[in-house]
Amino acid sequence: MKAFASDNYSGIHPEILDAIQHANNSHEISYGADSFTNRANQLFESLFGPVKVLYAFNGTGANVIALKCCTLPFHSIVCTDSAHIHVDECGAPTQSTGCTLIPLPSHDGKLTPELIRPLLKTKGNVHHNQPKVISISQSTELGTVYSLQELKFLCDFAHTNDMYVHLDGARISNAVAALEVNFKTATVDCGIDIMSFGGTKNGLMIGEAVLIFNAELKKNAEFYQKQSAQLFSKNRFIAAQFIALLSNDLWFRMAFHANQMAHLLASEISFIPEIKITRPVDANAVFAIIPEKAIEPLQKIYPFYIWDENTMELRWMCSFDTTTEDIMNFVSALKHIIDPSRT
Ligand SMILES: Cc1ncc(COP(=O)(O)O)c(C=O)c1O
Repeated sequence: MKAFASDNYSGIHPEILDAIQHANNSHEISYGADSFTNRANQLFESLFGPVKVLYAFNGTGANVIALKCCTLPFHSIVCTDSAHIHVDECGAPTQSTGCTLIPLPSHDGKLTPELIRPLLKTKGNVHHNQPKVISISQSTELGTVYSLQELKFLCDFAHTNDMYVHLDGARISNAVAALEVNFKTATVDCGIDIMSFGGTKNGLMIGEAVLIFNAELKKNAEFYQKQSAQLFSKNRFIAAQFIALLSNDLWFRMAFHANQMAHLLASEISFIPEIKITRPVDANAVFAIIPEKAIEPLQKIYPFYIWDENTMELRWMCSFDTTTEDIMNFVSALKHIIDPSRT
C-alpha cells in the first residue's frame, strides 16, 4: 500500500535502519550519557551553533518539553487554530504546562505580529493569563513555509514584548529544503528561542529532538524531559538515527525529494478541470478539493485524510519514499475515477 495520508505512514530509511543496527553492537552508558548521543549532539551543534539538545520519542513529547521550558502556569501560548499543539495533542501542552492556549484563526497557517498584537492588551493584568510564547509550525499544518523575513519579524516582535518563540519543527527539514538555506539561518539566526526538531516524518523509526538556543530556557530542561516520560534509557538508538540523518545530507535528500514529489503531484493535477488546488504548495503537502463522489473510491486505493469535513478539502502528503511512479499512478487513478471516459 502506498498512502498520501501522512509522512508518518512511510517506513524507515535504510540508512537509518543500518544506523540502529550499528548501535546494537556493544554496551553503552544509559540515559543519554553514551557515545552516540554525544556524537549526535555534536552534529546538532555543527548545524545550529551552540545548542542544548534533548531527545524525545514523539513530536507531542518534544513540544511538551519545549513549552514547559518557556512557561509558568499563569502564562498563555499563542498558536494558530490549525496548530498541532492545539488540534492534535489531546491537550498535552495545556495539561502539562498549566497554560492556556490562544489559537488564532489564520488563513495560511502562519502567525503575524498583527494577529498577535491585540492579545498584548492583557499584559500585566493579574486577571488574565500572560501571553509568553508564540508557537509556530514550520512547515505549517497547511503546507506553507514561513519566509526568513516573516520569521525575523515574528521573533523581533516576540522579544520586544518579553515573549519567546517556539518552533514546532516536525517538518523543519522540508521547510529548510524549500527555503534553500541551512538550519541555522532558518532558525536560530531568525531569533527562534527553542524548537522541536522532527525525525519521524523524515525517515526515522522513532525520535524527535528539542533544541534550546536561548540560554534562559536551558536550566530545568532535563527535569521536564524526565517528568514528561520522554527520557529514553537506551537513548543511543534515537541518537544513532540522528547521526545518520544529519550526516551526508540525508535529511536534505529525503526532505527535498518529498517536496519535489508534492510539486510533481500539484503540477500533474493542475490540468484536471474538476480539481482545485486550495493552498500554496511550499513543502511536501498538497491540499485540494475534488468532486465529492471521487473521494471514497480514491481513498480505497490510496489512503489519505479529509482535512476539512465542512469544505471537503483533502490533504495529500508526500514522503521521502514517494516515487514518481507513485505520483503518476495516483494521478491516473484520480483521473479515471473522476471521469472513466477520459483515460
Ligand atoms: C506539526 C506537527 N507537530 C508535531 C507532530 C508530532 O506528532 P506525534 O506526537 O504524533 O509524533 C506532528 C505529527 O503529525 C505534526 O504534524
